[in-house]
Amino acid sequence: MDERLKGKVAIVTGGSRGIGAAIAKGFAAAGGKVVISSRKEEGLKIQAEAINAEYPDAVQYKTCHMGDPEQISALFDFANDTFGIPSILVNNAATNPYFGPMLGISNGAWAKTFQVNLEGPFEAIRLLVGRLQEAKHPGSIINVSSIVGAGAAPLQGVYGMTKAAMISMTKTLAMELGGNDIRVNAIAPGLIDTKLSSIITSTPDLKRTFTDRTPLGRVGKPEELAGAAVFLASDESRYVTGQTLFVDGGYTIG
Ligand SMILES: NC(=O)c1ccc[n+]([C@@H]2O[C@H](COP(=O)([O-])OP(=O)(O)OC[C@H]3O[C@@H](n4cnc5c(N)ncnc54)[C@H](OP(=O)(O)O)[C@@H]3O)[C@@H](O)[C@H]2O)c1
Repeated sequence: MDERLKGKVAIVTGGSRGIGAAIAKGFAAAGGKVVISSRKEEGLKIQAEAINAEYPDAVQYKTCHMGDPEQISALFDFANDTFGIPSILVNNAATNPYFGPMLGISNGAWAKTFQVNLEGPFEAIRLLVGRLQEAKHPGSIINVSSIVGAGAAPLQGVYGMTKAAMISMTKTLAMELGGNDIRVNAIAPGLIDTKLSSIITSTPDLKRTFTDRTPLGRVGKPEELAGAAVFLASDESRYVTGQTLFVDGGYTIG
């Protein structure tokens, strides 16, 4: 039996589907307790029931818009009241409302992208760290970035900026929080088959721009992110901080 996360409580934002749901399931399989969040209750309920059917009582859920600091605070209260102090945070929820040449983005789409992809995750980290420091408790933060945060992001420029900023935030916070035994790492997925990426995966030419330069030659599956997340959340990675783990089929080596 996998007990790498036994006794640990995690919050996974954007856990109702895709990569977040796969990470939540991976945490449950490793013996952890998980609160998943997203905006819509229906998807959360379905996902929690599916995981709990396999790993009883492992998952609870709460709606939380990552653009709303009050809802983020309520999410942390809920996790604490339900399972005890959360020590693992996966900042996974993100949005990409605009696909096109960078300068064509509207002010509203720009603001939303920064709010949900950066300001909300930053607020969540602040809440987690405050609680951990008060309790003198170690912790692990995992920021879900992207390969487009490591280079140019054609047609996804502003989204790419937020993902690049996540890598920067990960490094600085790792430096500042290491003394508190709070580790901060990032996972940078390649192209993964989810709703968010469907505009690319359903357009053969766009999809090929990824698969043609990917050593493993294919799009990834959400469950292929779970192992990396369990590793970074657990004590197996206790001497790893400030790193970005690329789970991208090798895309970024070329
Ligand atoms: N798929 C890829 O190819 C790929 C590649 C690189 C990086 N990533 C990153 O991986 C992470 C997960 O993406 P995914 O591909 O799994 O996407 P997805 O399947 O579309 O899932 C996105 C999740 O985020 C939630 N969400 C969206 N907007 C939200 C908001 N404003 N507040 C709170 N929750 C919100 C969604 O649920 P609700 O609709 O209920 O809110 C859903 O649970 C993201 O950080 C993304 O940038 C994905």
